[in-house]
Amino acid sequence: MSFVRKSRTQVDYTAKVVLVGDCSVGKTCLLFRFVSNEFMSASYISTVGVDMKIKDIDVNGTKIRLQIWDTAGQERFRSLTHSYFRGANGLILVYDLMNPETFHSVRHYMSSVKSEADEEVILMLLGNKSDVPNKEKRVSYKEGQDLATEYGIPFLEVSAKTGSNVMEAFHALATAIKVKMHDEADDQFDLSDYVKKTVPDKRQERSCCI
Ligand code: GTP
Repeated sequence: MSFVRKSRTQVDYTAKVVLVGDCSVGKTCLLFRFVSNEFMSASYISTVGVDMKIKDIDVNGTKIRLQIWDTAGQERFRSLTHSYFRGANGLILVYDLMNPETFHSVRHYMSSVKSEADEEVILMLLGNKSDVPNKEKRVSYKEGQDLATEYGIPFLEVSAKTGSNVMEAFHALATAIKVKMHDEADDQFDLSDYVKKTVPDKRQERSCCI
């Protein structure tokens, strides 16, 4: 995997991050929340192909330019969007916690990641729409966490609508990317542990399904 060093533009590294998940899970809204810190409340327009936004962030004094690719969830774009996995430094798998089908699709995406992404890609699983009332949640926190544990990747429930855990998720991913490219000797860094330690558990009491 290669990282691009760009001193002339005052960033230390540029990293490619790809957002992937079924239609309507909230990938575009998560990206908009991260880049603009706003909820894109206009009516839903499905992404066509891929879109890209850039955000520079500072990770412990290292400036990282995140080039974030927002892929379309529609089946007809699948081979195109999966071609973006190659060369990605980070890959964020997103499901909608109101829609179990989108959760089951994560396994499908993971098999494509294994065959098409670089071996060293850093992965993260996000269950989006944590703002909805508990009675509308159809995938429990435990199910999300168990799947992430099975794959050995970090997991967070997030909300593009309220912003809950969104900045934290991208920041944690960027930290892992920075460690990989900057402090390669540090094989002690574990992103799942880092997320557990640094991101407060914002779960509300559930009346169902934990
Ligand atoms: P595709 O482009 O079709 O792949 O969809 P997408 O994954 O990019 O979904 P998008 O961001 O366009 O959001 C789909 C719908 O979910 C929109 O109606 C959003 O308003 C809604 N949505 C996105 N994030 C949230 C969230 O955190 N909470 C709630 N309640 N709704 C959300």
